[in-house]
Amino acid sequence: MQDLGTALGRAEPLRDPRRARVNPRGAYVDPIIRPARIADLPSIQRIYNREILEGVATWDIEPWTDAERLAWFEEHASDPTLPVLVAEMEREVIGFAYLSLYREKVGYRYTRETSVYVDPRFHRHGIGRTLLTTQVEAARRLGMHTLMALIEASNEASIGLHAALGFEGIAHKREVGRKFGRWLDSVEMELLLPLNPPD
Ligand SMILES: CC(C)(COP(=O)(O)OP(=O)(O)OC[C@H]1O[C@@H](n2cnc3c(N)ncnc32)[C@H](O)[C@@H]1OP(=O)(O)O)[C@@H](O)C(=O)NCCC(=O)NCCS
Repeated sequence: MQDLGTALGRAEPLRDPRRARVNPRGAYVDPIIRPARIADLPSIQRIYNREILEGVATWDIEPWTDAERLAWFEEHASDPTLPVLVAEMEREVIGFAYLSLYREKVGYRYTRETSVYVDPRFHRHGIGRTLLTTQVEAARRLGMHTLMALIEASNEASIGLHAALGFEGIAHKREVGRKFGRWLDSVEMELLLPLNPPD
């Protein structure tokens, strides 16, 4: 883990490197979690496309074009049950999270898939936890019952984050993905929210 002071080019270690509430001048600042806006799309693109090119958290291979990202945003903006959240610190978007449909069929209407991405400069400072906690709360308010996370099996950070919020591992699928010339396993983690729907 890189501490935030190092990430921001500071010589001095921070007083509490696990806290995200630090700006480049070393002051403690709470990140703002808010709904995404169109103006956030370049930051979302930067964070996600880096992961496409360098990581296996997403199994996309080609970076998204700006047109694809705009279409994605408009799809989410048109459906209140598919919220996109961003974490903003000092007017910089440093992470995002969103809900998407788990499956298209109507029977899956109380289930959503969660996704969360944090700029690597700010990993392990509580941003992912804050984003996902807010996302889970949003899902609860939206009347969702089941949240699913589909995670590459060696992604200890994501598995740890979801486990910390109460998600349970329910499936391990072997060699269902391929990227960078190797097979990838996926794990599915699930969180059930209390809900008794009318139908
Ligand atoms: C997964 C990810 C979102 C975590 O975000 P983060 O801001 O770094 O995580 P947090 O600092 O909020 O950590 C919250 C908890 O998650 C767990 N966790 C986070 N990083 C971890 C790691 N590298 N190893 C093990 N557990 C980890 C810990 O339980 C942690 O709590 P703690 O710090 O009190 O021990 C981030 O690593 C990331 O963006 N990775 C690349 C994209 C990705 O994998 N997205 C998920 C796709 S399924």
